[in-house]
Amino acid sequence: MSEQFFVRDCWYVAGLSSDFPAEKLTGHVIAKKPIVIWRTKDGEVVAYDDRCSHKRFPLSKGRLMPDGTLECAYHGMRYDTTGKCVMIPSHPSGPISPQATVRAFPVIEQDGLVWIWPGDPARSETQRPPRVPEVGNDQWESICVGPMNVSANYLLLIENLLDITHFYPLHDGNIGDIANSRIPIELEEGEADGNQYVMTIRQTSSYKQPPYLEDWFHYPVVDRHHTHCMMSPGLTRVVMRNAPPGQLQKRDGDREFPGRLDVGGVERGYVLVHTHTPVDERSHVWRIIVNCPAKDTAKGDPTKSTARRVAEMFPAVAAEDLWAVAEQQRMFEYPDDGYAEVFLKPDLALRRARKIMTDMLRQERAAAQVQAAE
Ligand code: FES
Ligand SMILES: [Fe+2]
Repeated sequence: MSEQFFVRDCWYVAGLSSDFPAEKLTGHVIAKKPIVIWRTKDGEVVAYDDRCSHKRFPLSKGRLMPDGTLECAYHGMRYDTTGKCVMIPSHPSGPISPQATVRAFPVIEQDGLVWIWPGDPARSETQRPPRVPEVGNDQWESICVGPMNVSANYLLLIENLLDITHFYPLHDGNIGDIANSRIPIELEEGEADGNQYVMTIRQTSSYKQPPYLEDWFHYPVVDRHHTHCMMSPGLTRVVMRNAPPGQLQKRDGDREFPGRLDVGGVERGYVLVHTHTPVDERSHVWRIIVNCPAKDTAKGDPTKSTARRVAEMFPAVAAEDLWAVAEQQRMFEYPDDGYAEVFLKPDLALRRARKIMTDMLRQERAAAQVQAAE
């Protein structure tokens, strides 16, 4: 695919709820839209265009006034939480033009994450952000690795996450495990909360764990159920369940969506939440939120929680993926000129992911054309 794009009509993670303490202005770029985001005194998260309607000065560099309005740092225009200008210092008594308004973006705060819709607000009701009930839940320990700035189109990371046959050789020396690449892959697709999803399922039995998985999940030999699911272009969820041979729970033929791990049972594992938020065609922001049952500790060091142990290893693993996708991105700068990618069996999920995103883009463009014609 030579075209590099991002979908705008989609919910994307702007940060964890804890990244937005009350009354702190933050500047973001999501899908090429500059956005100022903050939490009001009352706890509501507000997002609007980061360009002052007067002379484009970034509002995120302004300040919040005691009455809750945002004051631009350049000439002092003040905006309420809907983005409407309510005060112009140089026209204290004059009427305020309705044009002195900055566009607000739809916001949803859910499961410990703040989601923004950078596209057409009228279409924001067609989808809901995917659910990640483990994040910010007392029964779970959640540790965020990142945010990391990735020099590549976000689809390259999504493809990387859906196809773990790259563990060897890219992650040789840490999570590289060549036997893992040979586990057969099943595919599941469907729709949830208005999002088309694609999920790979890897099941294996009496599998000898590599040392790092034995350290995290204790059992040296396991039956394992492992899913990677692009729940939407904004989020990929990974669930790994391990149990001693014969003790892994069977659920709905083991094809359940979105994949979950019970806390407190014989099964050990994790839920990884990857958020990928496009900045532009060539860059995005990646977070890995590691979730493990709060009571689980590492085999090699029982003073350390499993979540902590996993999160300690991930920056080195992520650095290898960051390198790989940036190198791939660099090669997109050359015209195809007869070049065509070869598709292998494990590439099936990434082909489906591309199709889902291409279809979303097509719908988004068609809706924009209809709007322009009205
Ligand atoms: S640029 Fe904001 S008030 Fe002039
Ligand atoms: Fe990787």
